[in-house]
Amino acid sequence: MRTPIIAGNWKLNNTISEAVSLTTALKPLVAGCRDVEIIVAPPFTALASVSSTIAGSNIRLAAQDVYSEDSGAFTGEVSVPMLKDVGCGYVIIGHSERRQYFGETNESVNQKVKAVLGHGLKPIICVGEQLEDRESGQTEAVIESHVTGGIAGLSATDLASSVIAYEPIWAIGTGKTATPEQAQEVHAFIRGLLAAAHSAEVASQIRIQYGGSVKPENASALMAQPDVDGALVGGASLEAESFAQIVKFDQ
Ligand code: 13P
Repeated sequence: MRTPIIAGNWKLNNTISEAVSLTTALKPLVAGCRDVEIIVAPPFTALASVSSTIAGSNIRLAAQDVYSEDSGAFTGEVSVPMLKDVGCGYVIIGHSERRQYFGETNESVNQKVKAVLGHGLKPIICVGEQLEDRESGQTEAVIESHVTGGIAGLSATDLASSVIAYEPIWAIGTGKTATPEQAQEVHAFIRGLLAAAHSAEVASQIRIQYGGSVKPENASALMAQPDVDGALVGGASLEAESFAQIVKFDQ
């Protein structure tokens, strides 16, 4: 079955020393967790130090974004080979904040997803509707365009090693979590889209995370839903104790 995957997206937070303190505190708290994949996504500047800090532990490294080209005249960008070199196994792609503030589109997401998979890393592809979309009955249309746009042209093998993160924008950083039923409804819809794109068998292997105000108090109810396979955690991942409690959602 699908191994639960809990990732902490630190966003624009933590200097190198803060990042090292946070991961040093986190390591012993989650050291005994075996049947869950644990990921942290520090800002680019802290990737190398966090990579050394978590070496030999059960915590894995993700970047929060990447560029689709391997090298060249692209000032300010970071490539997949660079992320691989620093120890990243995952890359978050198409986060709503990147779509909203930095012009990320389904097309650029798709190019980045292909670049990441091409180098053997795993993309965490973010999708999610705004409050107006939900209120006007557009949730499924928005999710469908994010999912089908993001995974366009992927082989079954590539798709199976990808992760989808459903993050309703109205739930991000607002303290307003989707109810477990609301999350399950969209996750089941996403799995249906994945099945339509390839097959039910491929779709059944893909992990779908929920993100948006995940906290120790609501993590187990969300994770108990049949199509919720993990969490993408923002605010609550900035504190070792609360992130560890989410990682231990089933204890
Ligand atoms: P919060 O957990 O702070 O709501 O953020 C969710 C998120 O955007 C994770 O990528």
